[in-house]
Amino acid sequence: MFPGAQLSKSARPPGYVTSNRGAPPGHAPCGVGAPPGYITDKCGAPRGHAPEGVDTPQRYAAGREATVGPAFPGGRSGWSEPPRGVDTRDGLQRALPGGTPAREARAMSATTLVFLNRKGGVGKTSSTFHLAGALARSGRRVLLLDTDPQASLTQGFFGPEWTEAVPPGNTIAALFGDDFVPDPVALIVPTGIEGIHILPGSEHLNRYNLPEPEGDPRQAALRELIAEVRDTYDAILIDCPPNLCLCSWAALAAGDGVVVPVQPEDFGAQGLKKVQESVAAAQAMINPGLALLGYVITMFNKSLAVHAAYGEQLRAMYGDLVLSNIMPLAKDFKEAVVMRKPVAVYKPRSQAAKAMAALADELLARASGARTLKEVA
Ligand SMILES: Nc1ncnc2c1ncn2[C@@H]1O[C@H](COP(=O)(O)OP(=O)(O)OP(=O)(O)O)[C@@H](O)[C@H]1O
Ligand SMILES: [Mg+2]
Repeated sequence: MFPGAQLSKSARPPGYVTSNRGAPPGHAPCGVGAPPGYITDKCGAPRGHAPEGVDTPQRYAAGREATVGPAFPGGRSGWSEPPRGVDTRDGLQRALPGGTPAREARAMSATTLVFLNRKGGVGKTSSTFHLAGALARSGRRVLLLDTDPQASLTQGFFGPEWTEAVPPGNTIAALFGDDFVPDPVALIVPTGIEGIHILPGSEHLNRYNLPEPEGDPRQAALRELIAEVRDTYDAILIDCPPNLCLCSWAALAAGDGVVVPVQPEDFGAQGLKKVQESVAAAQAMINPGLALLGYVITMFNKSLAVHAAYGEQLRAMYGDLVLSNIMPLAKDFKEAVVMRKPVAVYKPRSQAAKAMAALADELLARASGARTLKEVA
């Protein structure tokens, strides 16, 4: 279902920027990406299927209203208004009145981290979501880019109904389409969590997430947006789909550092070599400053000897490229998502929140080191 995909201009809801980015009629896929735990080089659903339904402005409005209430108890009042036309920079500065220590000390533009692994279900979205919370809680201003057609990151904040109802032209899909987007920055919306903004994802991205993306002009889509907002944020986190197609490639074109979440399981079966090859290709072809920051072990169960063994194996394979901080398997991560809050906000004193805060510090330190090396070179 592609809400809004076929609206005529006159039928568009207030603030609707653009949709159906010039793709030919009947060209929208209707499937979803691979199931969690599945390694795939397929980039999305089959093409050539027409959208099954035509959305209405009323449905879009209803979707927003339905979400604004239950999803954001005590949330930001500005959110219920259409975000179009709002200066997100001012909005964020209002969200952090008087400046935070991080903001005052900030001398550089945002660090952009890309969360990538072609295996599904390894914790890419979870890491992105909860790291954003850890960074925001330490006073940093965070922008999230949801490049996965599954749009799980967006759902983490807004729920599935809103995510399905938002017109694709109001999402990251607009950046990959053919139509001119007059103000891409206006696509960014507050999440309801202080200090965190997001460019929402869309199932509609499936139509653009094509294999063999090298050289596709859309590879610059995220980089161009980031160039515009880089000075507005302290950190930009990009959640990728479980494949190495155009959306991931555009993220690699835009990032400073790549973080590869891995589960403590058979690493040979996790396709890490393909990820390394993609990063190397991006460095050679479009982003020489890109750094592979490291592998982060996720869902680690310390009571399982096999997890400890796999952790040691990964370190034997990749040495210091394996981050010191690991993400424990913890129900608090899942509960927090159910509450539509990063764990740092939901349970700030939990072990899960502390682990995420430590990982955030380690990643920023690595990214800063990589940046210094880049500047010296
Ligand atoms: N540390 C953790 N403890 C407990 N559950 C976790 C943890 N990390 C992730 N999960 C859960 O594992 C599942 C898969 O995680 P997630 O969606 O982040 O993976 P992904 O790599 O983004 O998947 P996909 O490739 O499909 O996008 C989710 O249900 C998530 O809540
Ligand atoms: Mg995901």
